[in-house]
Amino acid sequence: MTKIDRVLKKLSELYDFNRKLKAYKLREARRGVKIWQTQITSPCPPSGENPSRFDSREDEFLDSLSDSFQKDHKSMNSQITIRNETEADVDAITQVTVAAFKTLEISRHTEQFIISVLRAAKALTVSLVAELDGRVVGHVAFSPVTLSDGTHDWYGLGPVSVLPDYQRRGIGKALIQEGLSRLKDLNARGCCLVGHPEYYRKLGFKNMPGLVYEGVPPEVFLSLSFDGQTPQGTVTFHEGFNADGKGGGTGAEARGSGALEALSSKEV
Ligand SMILES: CC(C)(COP(=O)(O)OP(=O)(O)OC[C@H]1O[C@@H](n2cnc3c(N)ncnc32)[C@H](O)[C@@H]1OP(=O)(O)O)[C@@H](O)C(=O)NCCC(=O)NCCS
Repeated sequence: MTKIDRVLKKLSELYDFNRKLKAYKLREARRGVKIWQTQITSPCPPSGENPSRFDSREDEFLDSLSDSFQKDHKSMNSQITIRNETEADVDAITQVTVAAFKTLEISRHTEQFIISVLRAAKALTVSLVAELDGRVVGHVAFSPVTLSDGTHDWYGLGPVSVLPDYQRRGIGKALIQEGLSRLKDLNARGCCLVGHPEYYRKLGFKNMPGLVYEGVPPEVFLSLSFDGQTPQGTVTFHEGFNADGKGGGTGAEARGSGALEALSSKEV
């Protein structure tokens, strides 16, 4: 086979694959499963050997491709599934959260406890995992917040985590966008968080004059109104945000997650 023949063969495989991928996504969308495609630039880790999200028809098709194309394809494109957490995900969520916050200087490394306490308190209104090749690689939590002006149906975003090896590939963004969409489906009126302005502004969050989270610099408290209204007053996160793994998190006023609280004393 000449070089040009090989290139043409690969192009034709790619075309066929993309066509089938489109059909696959359409089928999944009809079943209500959202598939996010992310660009994976490094080869799949060993866990990539787990069954993938492709159904058997897709697997058969992949098997029919040349070895080198399969390798290229598997290293370049993987499907991220964003779905509700299940009981079976609890340990994986803890692991993802611990790993994501492990080297974060501003973190107090209590985020996994916060998630557990929120879950136990039935305050994980939305808790989504990002699954890649059968492995949980990301997680986001949303819980109710209290607003001093009496506005209801606002939620706090966080903690949000993506395994270090999978960061900066759009997974965090996909988790947050899907979470916000689920909140809107629940008739939520808005969402707020303490975090890095640069990151969250890209997702539509902004500083809202008049809406305050006491104890943190205003520039790191960001909000997103779903109904166009701007509540006025102070925000209190769920008391589960006090959790520290030593029995804390059930009494005093919530001050944000470990990382979020630490932001108050750091310049961001
Ligand atoms: C924060 C975190 C969840 C982001 O997830 P991610 O999958 O790495 O982020 P994404 O790839 O979806 O990034 C979305 C956008 O933000 C940008 N971005 C990612 N991390 C960023 C950072 N630390 N600072 C600024 N921008 C960042 C990306 O470049 C991307 O921009 P684009 O849409 O213009 O391309 C993840 O990095 C993480 O787990 N970090 C450790 C835990 C943490 O800090 N959690 C948040 C506590 S407030």
